Amino acid sequence: MDKPKVVLGVSGGIAAYKACELLRRLTESGHDVRVVPTESSLHFVGAATWSALSGHPVSTEVWKDVHEVPHVRIGQGADLVVVAPATADMLAKAAHGLADDLLTNTLLTARCPVVLAPAMHTEMWEHPATQENVATLRRRGTVVIEPAVGRLTGVDTGKGRLPDPGEIFEVCRRVLARGPVEPDLAGRHVVISAGGTREPLDPVRYLGNRSSGKQGYALARTAVARGARVTLVEANTGLPDPAGADVLHAGTAVQLREAVLKAAADADVVVMAAAVADFRPAEYATGKIKKKDGQEPAPITLVRNPDILAEVAGERARPEQIVVGFAAETDNVLANGREKLRRKGCDLLVVNEVGERRTFGSEENEAVVLAADGGETQVPYGPKEALADTVWDLVSSRLG
Ligand code: CTP
Repeated sequence: MDKPKVVLGVSGGIAAYKACELLRRLTESGHDVRVVPTESSLHFVGAATWSALSGHPVSTEVWKDVHEVPHVRIGQGADLVVVAPATADMLAKAAHGLADDLLTNTLLTARCPVVLAPAMHTEMWEHPATQENVATLRRRGTVVIEPAVGRLTGVDTGKGRLPDPGEIFEVCRRVLARGPVEPDLAGRHVVISAGGTREPLDPVRYLGNRSSGKQGYALARTAVARGARVTLVEANTGLPDPAGADVLHAGTAVQLREAVLKAAADADVVVMAAAVADFRPAEYATGKIKKKDGQEPAPITLVRNPDILAEVAGERARPEQIVVGFAAETDNVLANGREKLRRKGCDLLVVNEVGERRTFGSEENEAVVLAADGGETQVPYGPKEALADTVWDLVSSRLG
């Protein structure tokens, strides 16, 4: 079988050195990679490095090997084009269809999926010009992954870092696995909650649950590969941020509610995969609660937490918004699931049976997805990403 053909575009940012690692991962996992750097990127990493690592000649402009019409052939023959790093200038050129070098020509001739991994200073990323270019590209079906937050060039920190090359590789792998199809969540904003809330009792103790957050992260990763702008609101997972998602952090149910409602205001889809504590201690002790000899412990009084899913579904920020809930049930799984779907008012409910093999924290899952329109989709035991993709298939068909 032919190796999948990948074009790795590199534009002129300091993060170009990280693309060497991405290139290695792609070639070592059996991809035929053609590197197309921009002229300015060669200030950071030279053509010899790209040529040696890819095993192919490297050119930045359209005037070399003209008889082979490289400005057309390279893009036409690709199964995937990934640009990492994509500078603000590259995003602008791609959004406006400029073609003044080999990489921008390749972007115009490619008919395969395109992934752009922007990296730049925070101000450049946040500038309305860049944001509008990104929105345009996403609307057209380009997968633009959100930059990571962290140390930038020099002493600054903020949003704009190129995500970890291993994570970009995973995005490429998922996009390639989907084949030459349009990313069906392109131009959509999806909000996903993940993890489990902790309700503090005193400075050292809390009421919590065993949710690992892995299913929510799988939803975030697969949504990125399907072209969505992803906001992930995580609670106490301790997991590394998935590449391409905006990650917000919440501790308690009240904090999670605030973050989810804010992000949901312009969302096309809200998925509540987090395990939200139904109750919290009525009182928070500012000092550690001490045991006293000869005394029974004081009872803990609980109060109800807001039901975020019911609130999001009941007061949709946008009438066409799709709302998805999760439910973990131990008995009468389907009957309880149907009843919960009705009670919460969501469009889809992913029902897990909690039991022996299906423990919290595992890499795999099995579920049935119930739909408000009566649909019922069985998802066999398998990777959490497979369940996530089934959820997105069902969401996507409802988005119209
Ligand atoms: N959920 C929520 N806010 C809460 C509790 C739950 O948004 N305070 C959401 C969860 O994120 C999940 C769904 O509701 O998507 C179902 O959670 P579950 O705990 O199974 O539902 P409960 O309403 O708590 O039902 P039960 O009586 O079975 O505990």
